[in-house]
Amino acid sequence: MTTETTPGTVVDHAQLRIGEKTFDLPLVRGSEGEVAIDIRNLRRDTGLITLDPGYANTGSCRSAITFIDGERGILRYRGYPIEELAKTSSFLEVAWLLINGEQPSQAERESFAEGVAHHTMIHEDFNRFFSALPRDAHPMPALAAAVGALATFYRAPESDEDVDAAVTRLIAKMPTLAAYSYKRSLGQPFMAPRNDLNYSENFLHMMYATPCEEYHVDPVVARVLDLLLILHADHEQNCSTSAVRLVGSSRAHLFASISAGISALWGQLHGGANQKVIEMLEQIASTEGSADLFLERAKDRDDTKRLMGFGHRVYKSYDPRASILKDACVEVIAKRGGSSRLLEIAMRLEEITLSDDYFVSRKLYPNVDFYSGIIYEAIGIPVNMFTVMFALGRLPGWIAQWTEMRRDPDFRIGRPRQIYVGPTERRLADSTG
Ligand code: SDX
Repeated sequence: MTTETTPGTVVDHAQLRIGEKTFDLPLVRGSEGEVAIDIRNLRRDTGLITLDPGYANTGSCRSAITFIDGERGILRYRGYPIEELAKTSSFLEVAWLLINGEQPSQAERESFAEGVAHHTMIHEDFNRFFSALPRDAHPMPALAAAVGALATFYRAPESDEDVDAAVTRLIAKMPTLAAYSYKRSLGQPFMAPRNDLNYSENFLHMMYATPCEEYHVDPVVARVLDLLLILHADHEQNCSTSAVRLVGSSRAHLFASISAGISALWGQLHGGANQKVIEMLEQIASTEGSADLFLERAKDRDDTKRLMGFGHRVYKSYDPRASILKDACVEVIAKRGGSSRLLEIAMRLEEITLSDDYFVSRKLYPNVDFYSGIIYEAIGIPVNMFTVMFALGRLPGWIAQWTEMRRDPDFRIGRPRQIYVGPTERRLADSTG
């Protein structure tokens, strides 16, 4: 392999022997040295396809947005370690970095924040939209539907300027839609956004203020919320991001693509896990000594129970986000109170697994969802809004991946193949007898 090459270009070839024939397949190497076999011409040259359930061994694209090293527990957004961004940046600065590739200048920072602050309102007709939903509607399908419905108010962005405007609108309006879906579930009136509050403060205001009482934002809560949003902002080609890319690859509306991502994120194996973690911890808290029983069930292959918040397709060591969240849990509960009981149970579960061969041999460690719910609860976010918080955080990542996909010189509509295992040709006459 040659040493100095442009990341993602061909550095060597692999040989594939099928029967008497040998085929050369290009090898491409990324900035961090990971190598892939480029099989884009495999079917044309060999007549064969690959089979990879869950795409565990398949790269869908070249991307310059997020780098994860699952063995070493590394996560970087545009090259910056998550630990540094978590300490020093605001969520809107991280959103700008993910979408534009570089840290914002002072002027860009101010104009972006200004643009977002002045697009937080949603059309009055949306009030009728929410009133059509059942009172107890889960806020995730409500949010997915509302973001999809935004596409009925704004035409699909094509030019770069249109995309920039649509991006600002979506980043501005999604917290408003999220807060409205929560207020709807309470039967409380919607609270209009305020232009004098920053991103996280404004969301907390729309969630908790009422016409009868103003909500005074605790700076600790606002900062922790910004941290949570930053930690969830992107994670390369995860399930929901791949959904956004696949829908966007048909040239669908940005808002329709993001709506698909919200729906994929809701699944309990993905973003829905944070709600399941709290339910699991509360179940263990309510039945003394059930932690060991729960772990036994999680290890039993015949039992569908899993230790929610544990395990990861990529991280085979500690998820760096879980480390940051664990420390933040301790700090927030010390400052704000909250359920230290749930934190104690979570830390006890983690301690047991670190010396349990079932988890150690499978490299199962806490992931981002294991501690996030405890913080959400400590800052007053209701359990059914936990995955909505994940979606608010992931929004700039989805947008960055969608725009990168649309500008990719390799751009093609996503259309995987299959190995057919159904009935071979047969006649109706044969089967009617
Ligand atoms: C997120 O991809 C991303 O980047 C996602 C995410 C992001 O930021 O976008 O990081 C966010 O989705 C985090 C994951 C949240 N989900 C959960 O916490 C749900 C619980 N975890 C799992 O269901 C599971 O670990 C997954 C879904 C996260 C990963 O599944 P994989 O990679 O398909 O792994 P697998 O199911 O093949 O498991 C391998 C083995 C199996 O046992 P054996 O067949 O070898 O006997 O590990 C076992 C699994 O049974 N296993 C677990 C387990 N997770 C895996 N056993 C008990 N408890 C668990 N949590």
